[in-house]
Amino acid sequence: MDAKKIAEIEVDVLLEAIRLRYDYDFRNYARASLKRRVQSLLSKENLEMPYQLIPRILYDQNIFDKFLSEMSVTVTELFRDPPFFKSIQEIIFPVLATYPYFKIWHAGCATGEEVYSLAILLKEAGLLNRAKIYATDYSKRSLNTAKEGIYDASNMKINSEAYLKAGGKNQLEDYYTQQYDAFKFNDELKKNITFAYHNLVKDGVFGEMNMVVCRNVLIYFDKNLQNHAFSLFDSSMLRWVFYALAAKKPLIFRC
Ligand SMILES: C[S@@+](CC[C@H](N)C(=O)[O-])C[C@H]1O[C@@H](n2cnc3c(N)ncnc32)[C@H](O)[C@@H]1O
Repeated sequence: MDAKKIAEIEVDVLLEAIRLRYDYDFRNYARASLKRRVQSLLSKENLEMPYQLIPRILYDQNIFDKFLSEMSVTVTELFRDPPFFKSIQEIIFPVLATYPYFKIWHAGCATGEEVYSLAILLKEAGLLNRAKIYATDYSKRSLNTAKEGIYDASNMKINSEAYLKAGGKNQLEDYYTQQYDAFKFNDELKKNITFAYHNLVKDGVFGEMNMVVCRNVLIYFDKNLQNHAFSLFDSSMLRWVFYALAAKKPLIFRC
């Protein structure tokens, strides 16, 4: 057997060790990016082969936390992909407006920028008070940032431009207070948002939703895990709207 195949076996055994020890199952993550992340952790730990990580991870929770950070690519931004937010306002908001209240699930919300972006647009459409937003991720560190709603202010110009491109009607400054190099979203935006831990691999449905937003998450999953996530979204949906996005393209819209 060549060395490449043996390295694959090492990765399999590593993932199995993580599953048994910590109950996190990465076996159905997209293999190429998973191997890049294992490689990145190996070089940070000055190790060479995946098997060397196994005892470290088994006996040291800190190393596992580092692995988890590698696996949680939490890159996100306010009004990321403005046309997405524009199309939500044009296509989905009129449907939401016909309901006295509604529930939205942001699956894989990372540090929360996407969620606050939607909350701002719902507020401008007069819909925020009718919304209950569940924003979930399996990265507890990201969820803590999301709950605080405090972000680095160095990109404010880019954020403001994205807000306007997304169809924002006011000024982004109306929704936050700035202190030195950080800004904090107004508490009013937060009051209908619940940030919570949820792992798309192993946790079930937790409520009936009117809308599901899941962007830039499924790209890290293989086909089986993507289908599993879709079946979760499907069974959490009331029958009338389903809007889930992977990468930038709308996948399903059902009324
Ligand atoms: C690139 S971010 C996307 C953030 C945001 N949705 C966006 O599009 O800007 C991917 C997020 O998916 C989360 N994620 C990955 N696997 C997950 C899982 N099994 N369950 C829940 N969240 C997961 C990561 O922790 C990360 O925060």
